[in-house]
Amino acid sequence: MLESFARLRQEYQNPPLRAEDLDLDPLKEFEKWFALSVEREPLEPNAMTLVTADENGRPSGRMVLLKELDDNGFVFFTNYDSNKGHDLELNPQAGLVFYWAVQHRQIRVEGKVEKLSEGESDTYFATRPRGAQVGAWASRQSRPIESRDEFHGLLAAIEERFPEPELVARPPYWGGYRLIPDQMEFWQGQPCRLHDRIEYLKTDLGWSRRRLMP
Ligand SMILES: Cc1cc2nc3c(=O)[nH]c(=O)nc-3n(C[C@H](O)[C@H](O)[C@H](O)COP(=O)(O)O)c2cc1C
Repeated sequence: MLESFARLRQEYQNPPLRAEDLDLDPLKEFEKWFALSVEREPLEPNAMTLVTADENGRPSGRMVLLKELDDNGFVFFTNYDSNKGHDLELNPQAGLVFYWAVQHRQIRVEGKVEKLSEGESDTYFATRPRGAQVGAWASRQSRPIESRDEFHGLLAAIEERFPEPELVARPPYWGGYRLIPDQMEFWQGQPCRLHDRIEYLKTDLGWSRRRLMP
């Protein structure tokens, strides 16, 4: 068993990452890495692990999709009444991790999370396919349910409530969050596990940078 894991070992061969080649603003640098990932990664380059912690400090992670990056931060959408929603209500600090396997790249982001305005969430919700809109109403995300059939019953009830061509309004318990970064790390895989890592920290004077050991 252990042997088969050992055989998965892969060497990373990439040009080195030099701080002087990176933008002083990590959001700008993120945009550059993201644009390359859209070209080079085969699937969902906007998938990211969102890490939250509950009131006891117990962490949990799950994938979500980055839906927008603005001057203030990273936007994703979810059910406010889910496990992650409860965590963020009590502890609005979170982390994001992007992993782009083809390029051997990782970006970590940490900071404070705020809810989007109702208007911003409405605007995004209106762009979702109707099936996803109905699903957002029907799913009490992260709660247990007996069967798939039972869930289909809930979906049918929502379909009746919003018969086509009526528009589906946004459920009040569904919307967006924005993570406003105060720390970001750019990681580039290198041979012999001697990886390059450049960390940005937000200070009162703006962003500062430092190199971290692999
Ligand atoms: C690639 C991928 C993307 C996902 N994107 C989202 C998303 O944008 N929003 C969301 O609520 N859940 C998304 N999910 C589902 C979450 O990982 C998770 O199952 C769900 O949000 C419940 O998490 P929670 O119980 O921690 O609140 C995604 C899952 C995967 C695998």
